[in-house]
This record gives sequence, structure tokens and C-alpha cells, in this order.
Amino acid sequence: MNNSSIPVIAIDGPSASGKGTVAQLVADKLGYHYLDSGALYRIVALAALKRHIPWDNETALAEMTTSLKIEFKAADIFLNEENVSEQVRTEQMSQGASQVAIHPRVRQTLTKLQHSFRKSPGLVADGRDMATVIFPDAKTKIFLTASAEVRADRRYKQLLNKGLAADHAAILKDLKDRDARDKQRTVAPLQQASDAHLLETSQLNIEQAVDKAMNFIAQSA
Ligand code: CDP
Repeated sequence: MNNSSIPVIAIDGPSASGKGTVAQLVADKLGYHYLDSGALYRIVALAALKRHIPWDNETALAEMTTSLKIEFKAADIFLNEENVSEQVRTEQMSQGASQVAIHPRVRQTLTKLQHSFRKSPGLVADGRDMATVIFPDAKTKIFLTASAEVRADRRYKQLLNKGLAADHAAILKDLKDRDARDKQRTVAPLQQASDAHLLETSQLNIEQAVDKAMNFIAQSA
């Protein structure tokens, strides 16, 4: 079936920029479906850990990925029927996701699954390569970012709010490591698409960032 007429809003950006929250709120406002593509790389990292497959073994990871049963049900993510929503959110899986994500064959294996989220009436997709690789024909492309310090602050507060221990300096270092790995990889690196709107959120709260995103969407209607 040709679904190229179904509108896609692509929201890319670095970790902890708030793009997941903004993307979800935009999807709610528009009544669109939502794809959290980062969760897929997190699941691959988690599944590999459970099977003792190293995150640098591209062949084994790609083979494993083809056999995974991944399902999103409401706010929860299931891997082979197990609810892994909490397990994929740890810092270990953030680092693992960015390590498995450098492999072209792993990315290739996840492409069809990502395309399958494009369903009527529309899709808001969040990640690193939504606008550049997965949905290059997206109707609206937004590159949502904030300074590393602001992003580290946000992640720090998120962890404290969840009652988890948090070390600000370690969070900032992890963020910078992941930014570097995501930008420097040869396949689908994190970069602003030439036709994407830049949304700098260092000075904005979530509501203001959502308003700006909705303005960009209205401009491309
Ligand atoms: O939530 P946060 O921004 O911290 O991370 P995420 O969106 O869940 O993505 C985790 C990791 O998956 C990123 O650091 C990327 O290396 C990778 N990723 C990717 O390569 N391509 C995507 N479309 C989404 C995530």
C-alpha cells in the first residue's frame, strides 16, 4: 500500500533535548500516531544484553534484531511479550542504544518497522534520523535542541523527581559522549536536515516549545 500521502512530522535532536515530550504532546494535539524511534535502539541493546551478545558485534546484533517481537501498547513497550518500559530507560541502555545504533545492518533491520508506524491520520516521529533517512518526505521537519548544560539539568531533575540517585557531572559527561557518538557515526548521523526548522529550547519551557512546533506545522500546512 502506498502511504506516502499520510503526513509525517519529523522531530529530531540530541538526547534530553525534550523532543520526546514535545513530540508526544504534538501528536496528542493533532490526534496523530507517535513513534519513539530511540526506544527501538534501546530494545536492541537490552535484548543483546539478555542474550550476552556484545554491542559491537554487528552481525549477531542484526540477526537477533530480525527475530525480535517489539510492540508498543499505550505508553508501554513490550519485547517478546515482556513489558520492558522501565528496563529500557536506564542510563546503561542509553549508552547501549547509542552503541548498537552505529551499525548499518541494525539500522537497516529497523527501517521497515519504523515505516509501518505511518498510519492515517498522520504520524509524529521522534529520533535522530527521522527527517534525513527514515521519512525524508516528512511534511514538517523540526530539529529540537538545547545546550548540553541545560539538557544535563533537565535529565538531573527528571531522575530526582523519580526518586533516583543522580550525579550532575556524570550525566553531563554521558550526554556529551552520546552526542559525540551520534554525530560522528558514518550512517545516519545526528544532524539538522537542510529543510528542517531549528527549535532551540534552552530558554523555553515545554508549553512554549510545543507552541513553536505547532507554528512550524501550521506554516507547512
Ligand atoms: O531519550 P534520549 O534522547 O536520551 O534517547 P533516545 O531518543 O531514546 O535514543 C537513544 C539512542 O538511540 C541515541 O543516543 C541514538 O544513538 C540512538 N538513536 C538513533 O540512532 N536513531 C534514532 N532514530 C533514535 C535513536
